[in-house]
Amino acid sequence: MIKILYLGDIVGSSGRRIIKKHLSSLKQKYAIDIVIANAENAAHGKGMTKKIYYQLCEMGIDYFTMGNHTFSKPDIYQFIEQVDNMTVPLNMEKSVEISPIIIENKKIVISNVMGEIFMHNTINSPFEIMESVLKQYPDYMHIVDIHGEATSEKIAFFYHFKNRVQLIVGTHTHVQTSDEKIVDGCGYITDLGMCGTYHSVLGRDIEEILARFLNKQRLPYKIAEGEAILHGIVAEIDEINKQCVSIKKIKIMENDQI
Ligand code: FE2
Repeated sequence: MIKILYLGDIVGSSGRRIIKKHLSSLKQKYAIDIVIANAENAAHGKGMTKKIYYQLCEMGIDYFTMGNHTFSKPDIYQFIEQVDNMTVPLNMEKSVEISPIIIENKKIVISNVMGEIFMHNTINSPFEIMESVLKQYPDYMHIVDIHGEATSEKIAFFYHFKNRVQLIVGTHTHVQTSDEKIVDGCGYITDLGMCGTYHSVLGRDIEEILARFLNKQRLPYKIAEGEAILHGIVAEIDEINKQCVSIKKIKIMENDQI
């Protein structure tokens, strides 16, 4: 069995702080083999820097998937082509060539695709790009992060690929959904949720966002401060039968004891 902890979008410093506090206890508690996280919002809510990437690796995250904000901070160009544990949506607009993550000793491929609905920098269909990954790695087990806004698109993606993929997780909305399931050996959740400030609007400062909605006022981008929440799932994959056998939601507050 391979036990995977997949963490929802890490948003800013509070997201990083709660991971630092709880990740090693979580790994121990659930006997985790692989930790994966969506980290497109890790650096002040948008993008990733070299320093933060190394900090998150040191905290115990093994692999990273990203999203529409991957390249929001140019610092990422300093290292993204040199590391083999980070992938970005394969169907997004980008100036670097990025492949899926290959975990050779476990015969696992981790892919990242982006939805087309309500997303601005998707260049082709997540369905098409996923077909090409499956064609390229036919004998591997597959884990996919579909980064998208529309629940319908993510659910449709799951039903289309469930017989060929072992685990599909949705990211981007930062709100953990309550629809985790296993169908035909594929584990699924529409959105993992986030690792970020609990009292916030998807990790951002409430007043800043309210000023936009109420007064059409654009205040400087601000990440919310305060106690953080950590969201994700623990899934178990039976590598003999190439099937996901369990999926469990994780939701922990910063001040909780594990
Ligand atoms: Fe996103």
